[in-house]
Amino acid sequence: MRLKDKVALVTGAGQGIGRGIARMFAREGARLVLAARSQDKLARLESELSAAGTPVLAQATDVAVRGQMEALFAAAAERFGHLDVLVNNAGVGLGTPVDKVRDEDYDRVINTNLRGMHLGCHLAVPLMRRAGKGSIINISSVHGVEGSPGNTVYAATKGGIIGATRALAAELAPDFIRVNVISPGAIYLGGDQGYGPPAGLTPEAEEEYRRRWGDENRVVHRYYQPLEVVGEPVDIAYLAVYLATDESRFVTGQDITVDGGLTTYLADFPRPDLREKRDRDREEMRRFVEANQKPS
Ligand SMILES: NC(=O)c1ccc[n+]([C@@H]2O[C@H](COP(=O)([O-])OP(=O)(O)OC[C@H]3O[C@@H](n4cnc5c(N)ncnc54)[C@H](O)[C@@H]3O)[C@@H](O)[C@H]2O)c1
Repeated sequence: MRLKDKVALVTGAGQGIGRGIARMFAREGARLVLAARSQDKLARLESELSAAGTPVLAQATDVAVRGQMEALFAAAAERFGHLDVLVNNAGVGLGTPVDKVRDEDYDRVINTNLRGMHLGCHLAVPLMRRAGKGSIINISSVHGVEGSPGNTVYAATKGGIIGATRALAAELAPDFIRVNVISPGAIYLGGDQGYGPPAGLTPEAEEEYRRRWGDENRVVHRYYQPLEVVGEPVDIAYLAVYLATDESRFVTGQDITVDGGLTTYLADFPRPDLREKRDRDREEMRRFVEANQKPS
């Protein structure tokens, strides 16, 4: 087990990439502190991981709120005494053109993605000093380095995370605290996160749709980038494990992209040949849905 007895704190752990990282850290023997806003999702994950023997402290926490983050890190210190690994994963997006962005949305995205990461690092450092070393893993995005319409605020936070990571890596090196970024590309988050057959199908057709495609999102995700592979939370989690272990003791201040080649591809994406396949898949699904509506 590569993380045996390490204490790792993961934010935004209730679902998606954070949950994937928490599960893999547990498999590798870590003791876990898990934070997310939804108590329900945290409780489900806590009972799943505890049942498999992982010591878990789960606490509903809004990463943007200093008081809640202080309470989380205090509880972690009391339970485990120190911290070896912090994954600042909690994040929100905003797909809005700049002239339509409302101040409250701007504040929410900046506060979650940037202030949340800042508070995590700010509170983790004293606990990592107690351990004599540590690894901070900040989750950014390909949007931190590439532009796309409607993403100015999100991109500002994700670029900010990369800049802050480089500065922190230099600042914390004397303490042997390493700080790195993982920048995911398109990561498919799974059928329990609201994807699935569209509304209005007959029950038999719903079953058939699931059998054939799972959900449309899964099918089209593999055409997002040069590698015809569906990126999933485990793809991020494998790298997070490496960065959390001492195997990466010589790696700090890096932004490591996990994106199926998306950011290496200078032309439009999907790849032209994959675009045709994607359009064929979409058309087949559209025809299926049209032909299988419940009678009204
Ligand atoms: N899925 C992708 O394709 C993708 C791509 C690039 C980067 N990312 C980044 O990965 C990270 C995880 O996102 P995901 O894709 O798993 O999406 P997700 O929405 O499933 O997960 C985000 C998690 O963060 C939590 N969260 C949001 N605001 C919070 C707050 N204020 N306090 C505490 N928790 C909060 C949510 O409750 C959720 O558990 C994010 O930082 C996201 O920007 C995702």
